[in-house]
Amino acid sequence: MEHSFHGRTMATLSATGQEKIRHGYSPVLEGFDFVPFNDVPALKAAVNERTCAVLLEPIQGEGGVRCPDEGYLQSVRRICDETGTLLIFDEIQTGMGRTGTMFAHEQFGVRPDIMTLAKALGNGLPIGAMLAVEPVAAAFGPGAHASTFGGTPLVTAAAIEVLKVMAEEDIVSRCAEMGSYFRDQLMWLKGCHGVVKEVRGRGLMIGMELNVDGMPFVTACMEQGFLINCIQETVLRFVPPLTITREDIDALIDCLDRLFGNMQEAA
Ligand SMILES: Cc1ncc(COP(=O)(O)O)c(C=O)c1O
Repeated sequence: MEHSFHGRTMATLSATGQEKIRHGYSPVLEGFDFVPFNDVPALKAAVNERTCAVLLEPIQGEGGVRCPDEGYLQSVRRICDETGTLLIFDEIQTGMGRTGTMFAHEQFGVRPDIMTLAKALGNGLPIGAMLAVEPVAAAFGPGAHASTFGGTPLVTAAAIEVLKVMAEEDIVSRCAEMGSYFRDQLMWLKGCHGVVKEVRGRGLMIGMELNVDGMPFVTACMEQGFLINCIQETVLRFVPPLTITREDIDALIDCLDRLFGNMQEAA
């Protein structure tokens, strides 16, 4: 998809639909076509019986926290089924509870054939995983996709423990609850400050699009002890720890309220 982000290894870079990320790494791998996210006719025109797979993030992260339109992912699934094309969801950013369900695709009622995971899977320890439905998984035999540090006992033990703790502490429901509170607070800010154009996202993956450059707010927040980031120049992205508290959220909202207020006064 255009504006996608799938990583910086050669194949994932080749699948990434952002020229600024690919810059300096040419030649990238051939065979990838890009279409706009949320554009069903464009996808239909690009996919045929010779297409291997459609790869997308159920909610685009680096691309600006872009959610799929109602029915979009269903249409993608249908196009894949009609042409015998595999559907791959990159849930590296959206997975592991981040969006309020264990995997984002659960909220849209669409099952992929392949799903990638990383980030929160090891809660900080480096682990990534590719999951596939049985007929696809059968393409790999033992050792066919091995690497020196792949699937080591240390990180897999950590990932198993992460899953246990997530279940015991019901982190996923907590994420949905805190995400909804966080969004409400950001919507309140939108009502107070004209500089906020839109608030979007699911669970604890939220983007706040501004009418102005977002980077000065990232720097100002950092000076106050809050780590946020800015993507696509104008979108402040909030992907806090899944254990964030209401008090933490309130403190950040106060900080943003002050910063937006100061900006209005200065204008
Ligand atoms: C959706 C998505 N896929 C892939 C990656 C990159 O993963 P890695 O750095 O493990 O290659 C990221 C990193 O931000 C991501 O957000």
